[in-house]
Amino acid sequence: MCGIVGATSERRISEILLEGLKRLEYRGYDSAGLAVLSENGQIESLRRTGKVQELKDAVGEHPLGGTTGIAHTRWATHGGVTEANAHPHISNDCIAVVHNGIIENHSKLREKLRELGYEFRSDTDTEVICHLVHHEKQQHADLFDAVQAAVKQLDGAYGTVVMDCQDPGRLVVARSGSPLVIGLGIGENFVASDQLALLPVTRKFMYLEEGDMADITRTGVKVYDKSGSRIERAIHESDGQYDAGGKGNYRHFMLKEIHEQPSAVRNALEGRLVDGKVSGNAFGEGSMDVLKDIEHVQIVACGTSYHAGMVARYWLEALAGVSCNVEIASEFRYRQSHVHPNSLLVTISQSGETADTLAALRLSKELGYKGSLTICNVSTSSMVRESDLAYMTRAGTEIGVASTKAFTTQLVGLMMLVLALGQSRGLSGDKQQHIVGALKALPAKLEEALLLSDEIEALAPEFADKFHSLFLGRGSQYPIAMEGALKLKEISYIHAEAYAAGELKHGPLALIDAEMPVIVVAPNDELLEKLKSNVEEVRARGGIMYVFADKDAHFQGDASMRVINVSHCDELIAPIVYTIPLQLLSYFVAIIKGTDVDQPRNLAKSVTVE
Ligand code: F6R
Repeated sequence: MCGIVGATSERRISEILLEGLKRLEYRGYDSAGLAVLSENGQIESLRRTGKVQELKDAVGEHPLGGTTGIAHTRWATHGGVTEANAHPHISNDCIAVVHNGIIENHSKLREKLRELGYEFRSDTDTEVICHLVHHEKQQHADLFDAVQAAVKQLDGAYGTVVMDCQDPGRLVVARSGSPLVIGLGIGENFVASDQLALLPVTRKFMYLEEGDMADITRTGVKVYDKSGSRIERAIHESDGQYDAGGKGNYRHFMLKEIHEQPSAVRNALEGRLVDGKVSGNAFGEGSMDVLKDIEHVQIVACGTSYHAGMVARYWLEALAGVSCNVEIASEFRYRQSHVHPNSLLVTISQSGETADTLAALRLSKELGYKGSLTICNVSTSSMVRESDLAYMTRAGTEIGVASTKAFTTQLVGLMMLVLALGQSRGLSGDKQQHIVGALKALPAKLEEALLLSDEIEALAPEFADKFHSLFLGRGSQYPIAMEGALKLKEISYIHAEAYAAGELKHGPLALIDAEMPVIVVAPNDELLEKLKSNVEEVRARGGIMYVFADKDAHFQGDASMRVINVSHCDELIAPIVYTIPLQLLSYFVAIIKGTDVDQPRNLAKSVTVE
């Protein structure tokens, strides 16, 4: 949420900053800005509301020539989307600051700084940081000491980068609750909230830990831990195999990522099934020693990742015989929960940085869990680093704000967990083989599901004038209906709700009329006949349905029901396969509605504020 890029170099850096912002734009995109230190020691800044392109155009008209600078793309938390609220914020034309996170005590600090004579020009919480640093510089001659004194007064979360007009060629950064990574170059160094921003300029990265501060110049980087002691952080070499720079021939990242799912799932499986079993290190070295004693699983996640967890509950209890709770992280972290004996805390996250999920993971360490596992797509993320075990989903960088390939690969990771737990809990050899066979068949099944693209595109116009929609599923397809509804609402802005089909008659049936399309997920499973009865309940009330059905389920299409046949697949992997047509439906409806598919309004990719 929000993106930060900073650089100090011998060359002009505004192009590097802008390219970095462009790559981070998926994290926040309501306004953007940059500030550079010009050769005559002045801070020159440009900010624009709207996309990074607006800022690029502005820089095109007013080129900025500095060799040290900071830049930011914003997702508004405090203060509306205005140029005045865009970062960088600058105090007394000299201290420039960019910030991710939320400063919770900003009102108190604002009052104090006003009394000291500082004038505020924005409604943001961030502006207190630049004035505080400016104030502290009156007591501490050195910029690092001033920033250190300032951040000690902050409550809340921050990843922040500070530039001082009196200290050219230097950036001071601090991390607490919002990730920062330092990029190491030759005669130049960088900082960003995500290494993706820096891939065009370096492949060497150093990840700051919680409470770290760093002093960055062209020729070196000094890191200090939360006690203020100098510390060496490991340097990681990025393989840079995946450079998410482009959309290829696809119109949107989301469409590209939908089509990448067969290969993403192949990657997620590769080398992890050996002789019909989950390989010992799929979840990290020594993982089987932890997993063998697990009797209960507590899953915590947000949004789409939470839906993956809900599917896993059906699998874990039915196949591995392990009890399982699934909870939204923002609820879990603020309630007193009961920890079952021998429980595993599982977080699921594409980014590995979602603030609520990360807080739940940290909380779990105080609660007596046997261990923690994260199912995650970013190997360098906080969740991977802070969990005992990790299953990397290997989906490749996901740029579209609406999660697609991250979800299906999470489900693969969760099915692997079912296998691993089942292996140590007496899951029969036949059942294990069945699961392994179904997983191996999955990439081909996803390819078949993608062939529905044209048919789904053709029916999308029927949704264009609709304001509401209802998604129905039963069993492990109920969370898939929820995920379908989330996709439709987030990118087409059509109100979409999901219900377990058996729950219809307990209220939502009152909504049914010809104006609200009902989307039904209907694989050929043991609940099919029950689902068919629910379909009849809708039909009897004049509802218009779109049924995604196994062709052997024998649904008869008519004026009130469009049947989209999905080729037959094993019941175990059906939740993953049926996800694809629902993703395609939301994509094509969004195209008809003309929304910003990759960057839907009001949203951001990595939700690093709670
Ligand atoms: C929806 C979507 C979000 C994320 C949620 C959690 O398409 O992408 O609901 O799933 O913000 O994010 P991660 O998985 O990064 O923890």
